[in-house]
Amino acid sequence: MELFNLPGQLNVTIAQQGIRFVLDGEIIEARDVAPTTTLLQYLRNILGRTGTKEGCAEGDCGACTVVLGELSGDTIRYRSVNACIQFLPTVDGKEVVTVESLSTSPAALHPVQQAMVDQHASQCGFCTPGVVMSLFGLYLNQPDALRPQVLNALSGNLCRCTGYRPIIDAGCRVHDYATPARWSAADAHSEARKQLLRALQRSTSLQLPGDAGFFAPRSLSELANAYMAQPDALLLAGGTDIGLWVTKQLRTLPTLIYLGEITALQQIIERDDQLEIGASVRLEDAYTALVAHYPMLDELHRRFASPPIRHAGTLCGNLANGSPIGDSMPILIALDAHLRLRRGDVTRTLALEDFYLGYQKNALQAGEFIEAVQIPLPRPNRIVASYKISKRSDQDISAVCGAYVLDIANGRIGAARIAYGGMAATPQRARRTEALLTGQAWTQASIQAAYAGLTADFTPLSDMRASAVYRLTVAQNLLLRLYLQHTKPATAVRIEQFDGGVG
Ligand code: FAD
Ligand code: FES
Ligand code: FES
Repeated sequence: MELFNLPGQLNVTIAQQGIRFVLDGEIIEARDVAPTTTLLQYLRNILGRTGTKEGCAEGDCGACTVVLGELSGDTIRYRSVNACIQFLPTVDGKEVVTVESLSTSPAALHPVQQAMVDQHASQCGFCTPGVVMSLFGLYLNQPDALRPQVLNALSGNLCRCTGYRPIIDAGCRVHDYATPARWSAADAHSEARKQLLRALQRSTSLQLPGDAGFFAPRSLSELANAYMAQPDALLLAGGTDIGLWVTKQLRTLPTLIYLGEITALQQIIERDDQLEIGASVRLEDAYTALVAHYPMLDELHRRFASPPIRHAGTLCGNLANGSPIGDSMPILIALDAHLRLRRGDVTRTLALEDFYLGYQKNALQAGEFIEAVQIPLPRPNRIVASYKISKRSDQDISAVCGAYVLDIANGRIGAARIAYGGMAATPQRARRTEALLTGQAWTQASIQAAYAGLTADFTPLSDMRASAVYRLTVAQNLLLRLYLQHTKPATAVRIEQFDGGVG
């Protein structure tokens, strides 16, 4: 047992085992819990904090949104996550903020709460705690947030009653209120909070015993050795795929080896004309770095799931999961991204397009994991684009996702790399289509002549998202969209500012 004397704080006695996190200024220590216990289950069933709701239990509705605070250098980074698919051991060493944390009395609501009241932004109230926590995450991180940022922050919150307008209005007005004593940005980053989190940081790896145990290595070599010793263990990155295996498929998982505590995997590095993104880099940070070099991928970034999913999930988890409709793979295949794989102390590099061997089958050997993904930086005279087609704009799975990298010189197509998601058992290059385009004049006729390539490259399925005919037609139309978007001046489209132009 270690005693931490924190100036101005409770003397906190911290045992070395058990999952420890901060909640309302106290250290909570969770013992004897199954590693796949979700944060939501623990909050509701053990701590009785039922303000955080359960709707879908799969990260889709936002009713369970909480905010996690994580030490990041000398500051604390607060981000919204879905508590329903966040395994409890992954919040070890972090601060958990729930809707109950924001205010201690109805007479002193937090500005986010007060704005929701004043804008009549709640009816049945079921979604409201999650909405409040998504807006609270935005409140802490973006004091100058306007309507677009409010819409983005709420893209993972489903409300069946209010019609969203009052919620959006509330989100646009949160900074009209006086700075609260509790959970202002300054309070959130107070020295006392940092001290408490520092006291929680471990010097050794968290290990929870049991048949289906949990191990959070703290170094790359510790991870490599553990995974070589236990190749049947399951690597857990952000848990936004794995979480649903438990909450929806009710699967019993093997021992989990958690990648989230390894600093070496959390790096984003530019070197040798490539952007290298480590295996534990969250989707939000990975896409922010990618879009800084490829601004045309901004829409793909914003339409990838929702902020709580992007705050938890990782880019390499998306690649490793290898869903046929995964959104990152088409563009990274088209950009000729490579994976650095590690097994023990041996590493190898593999082109992402060669990583997928069949439906959710990949080239990883036993005990081997993705250490990083390497993405070539932009080249001159190169057109890059990726288009996601799904039923809903936000928080939806692609029916088709097309990605294009074309080198154009003197009006001719020098080289073409094209990949699609949703068109085959794995994300896949359109090689016949590429061959029909390479060397041709960059004209609409060349594009339409290449449609025949797509019917040779793919035999898509029909499923509940789209029919085979629809997918093929859309794949062809996206090729034409690429051409028109890059050759016709953008038609001036005035978007009427919706109602009073709030925010
Ligand atoms: P995890 O769930 O931790 O792991 C996924 C798989 O990858 C597991 O098999 C794990 O063992 C393996 N793995 C993870 N890291 C490594 C590694 N370094 N080496 C080897 N294996 C590894 N996906 C999209 O493409 N587009 C979307 O719009 C989208 N929307 C979503 C919306 C919701 C509500 C949810 C719940 C999911 C959505 N997803 C979407 C799927 C998921 O969020 C992504 O695939 C995410 O990137 C997975 O990353 P993760 O870190 O959470 O992976
Ligand atoms: Fe729906 Fe968590 S309960 S997102
Ligand atoms: Fe009822 Fe949003 S107020 S679901």
